[in-house]
Amino acid sequence: MARPVFGLRTRLLAALLLSSAVTLAVAALALLSPLEHRLRADGEATVFSAVAASRAELGDIGVNRATGLPDYNELAGAISLLRRRAGGAQVSVLDRRLATIYAPANQDLNVPDYYAQVRQALASHRGVHTLIGDELVVAEPMRIGDGGAVYGVVLVRRLQYVSSAVAVVRSAFIDAAAAGLAIALVLGIALTTTLLRRLERLRDAARELMQRGLDASLPLDRHRDEIGDLTRAFAGMQSRLRHQEQARKAFVATASHELRTPLASLDGTLELLEDDLSTARLDLDDARERTRRAREQSRRLSHLATDLLDLSRLEADVQVRREPVELGELCRAVAAEFERRAHEKRVELDVLAAPSPAWADCDPGAAARIVRILLDNAIDVAPGGSSIRMQPSTDGACAQTTVSDSGPGVPEQERARIFERFQRGSTTGARSGFGLGLAIGRELAVRMGGTLELLHTPENEKGARFVLRLPAARAGEST
Ligand SMILES: Nc1ncnc2c1ncn2[C@@H]1O[C@H](COP(=O)(O)OP(=O)(O)OP(=O)(O)O)[C@@H](O)[C@H]1O
Ligand SMILES: [Mg+2]
Repeated sequence: MARPVFGLRTRLLAALLLSSAVTLAVAALALLSPLEHRLRADGEATVFSAVAASRAELGDIGVNRATGLPDYNELAGAISLLRRRAGGAQVSVLDRRLATIYAPANQDLNVPDYYAQVRQALASHRGVHTLIGDELVVAEPMRIGDGGAVYGVVLVRRLQYVSSAVAVVRSAFIDAAAAGLAIALVLGIALTTTLLRRLERLRDAARELMQRGLDASLPLDRHRDEIGDLTRAFAGMQSRLRHQEQARKAFVATASHELRTPLASLDGTLELLEDDLSTARLDLDDARERTRRAREQSRRLSHLATDLLDLSRLEADVQVRREPVELGELCRAVAAEFERRAHEKRVELDVLAAPSPAWADCDPGAAARIVRILLDNAIDVAPGGSSIRMQPSTDGACAQTTVSDSGPGVPEQERARIFERFQRGSTTGARSGFGLGLAIGRELAVRMGGTLELLHTPENEKGARFVLRLPAARAGEST
């Protein structure tokens, strides 16, 4: 199959590159502009603090009485100190008429006109500063000499180091960004290649599963990440489905076998009867016996049909009803149905009175079906003259009923198996069955949020004791 143009790889790589590029661009904007601003601010602060520091020294300079001008040597010394403090700024001094009384030796300033600033500073008695290109020009009115006049002191500081520092950082940033993007690209390609390879393996496995069925082999992925989890979940689903498919096949095979046996027997009996009738050599006793056997087989078939119908309903996920059901009453009703059979077997059915009504929140039909299954088994195995006890009770959270008999009990090794479909134990009593009763009962109990279990019989007692537990109905519901 052709690879899509905008496949996962292209989209992942594009997203990776885009997010890296945007991150770097935002980082550059966030870094470079404040850096430039900060360096300029630092440069300006140096000049302003130098002016403040030199103000007193300039005020102390001696004044030539004849000319009224500050002593030149002292002025040159103070200005050279001011220049050093101001980070190498060039310093000039102008008087009120804007005549230069001090200028740096190598005046190479490219300042178009700072006279206007000096004039403004002297007129307003306040410092004036401007930034012209890379040059900071500060004009300060300062008194020079003890009792001397106020002059305009001009400091010009080149801040071109700010732009060069920013340029260096910018180019380092571009290099780092290029390297970062290249690494992101390489890592992205490597990562998407492995991820896609693993996804493709999974896709191929799914296709194989589609073509070859559940026996197709799935890839092993031991990575502890989402794709690994997906592969393992996929393998789990396959094994679950395989298991269900096996169980379904086994069920169909067993069910059809169970159906065929009574049908074949019924067919044989009816054939013999037909033969007898056609030859007119009918022995009435024989015919009666054959009809009895035929009816037995047909009852067996109808019993199996009911069980299979129950199972198919359970498999079709038919919803169970929920309503308050009093288990004592339910047990008495079911016991009444078995009265005749129990009487024939000389077995007594006792429904013990519960200390308080045992209200369960369940489907009355399903709950009665479970009690019927338990009672049916118990009557089968109970010895003549014994009694079968049904004991409903409740503990608030759950309502339950136990069904105990005095039969042979269930051997330890069969305790789990008897709840499986088509599994009969060794203590089955005289009646024939299919091993479906308890399987249906347990499934129904679970559907209603309850359980069906075989309890351990106390050492000094014999027989089997089953318990059906169901969620208790809330107080308001049971009234
Ligand atoms: N009260 C009991 N005492 C001793 N063994 C029991 C009792 N109830 C069930 N069993 C054992 O559990 C097995 C499974 O019971 P289950 O009701 O599922 O099937 P069955 O009675 O054999 O057949 P079916 O109920 O389908 O007619 C029985 O064959 C029997 O060996
Ligand atoms: Mg049974």
